[in-house]
Amino acid sequence: MPLSHDHHHGLALALRCRKQALGQIKPMGVRGLRERAREIRDFFSTNLERHFQAEEQALFPFMRLSIPQSRTLIDVLLADHKKIREAARGLEADTGVAKLLFDFGDLLERHIRREERELFLLFEELATPEEAEGVKREIERILERGENERL
Ligand SMILES: [Fe+2]
Ligand SMILES: [Fe+2]
Repeated sequence: MPLSHDHHHGLALALRCRKQALGQIKPMGVRGLRERAREIRDFFSTNLERHFQAEEQALFPFMRLSIPQSRTLIDVLLADHKKIREAARGLEADTGVAKLLFDFGDLLERHIRREERELFLLFEELATPEEAEGVKREIERILERGENERL
């Protein structure tokens, strides 16, 4: 699953955000908080937004249609995407950044784990090999669209 690569990256970032918010990594204080906030914005524009689009345009519609028992979960995941996008925008703020960072890390990690443990599991169990291949190609196409735009 090409999405798992971003998930690893996302989990590492989520952990750094929480540690930064708790003052456990350097540089501490405002400078470190600003660095993490910038890292999130960069991750968002280079990976995460495109990743969300691949899920929203390829994976989720396929699953909603072909694997009906995934529908409730997909509604939750879409609501997560909305919250994560809002939280990333909220990080532009000048005050309360530590709490915003901690909450962002928490939200991102829970979302990724839900996808890995629940959604991907359903997909692996219930999509046929041909369907899986088709969805994978579609996801790659959307992710590559992002790569090309950056070149
Ligand atoms: Fe997602
Ligand atoms: Fe994801």
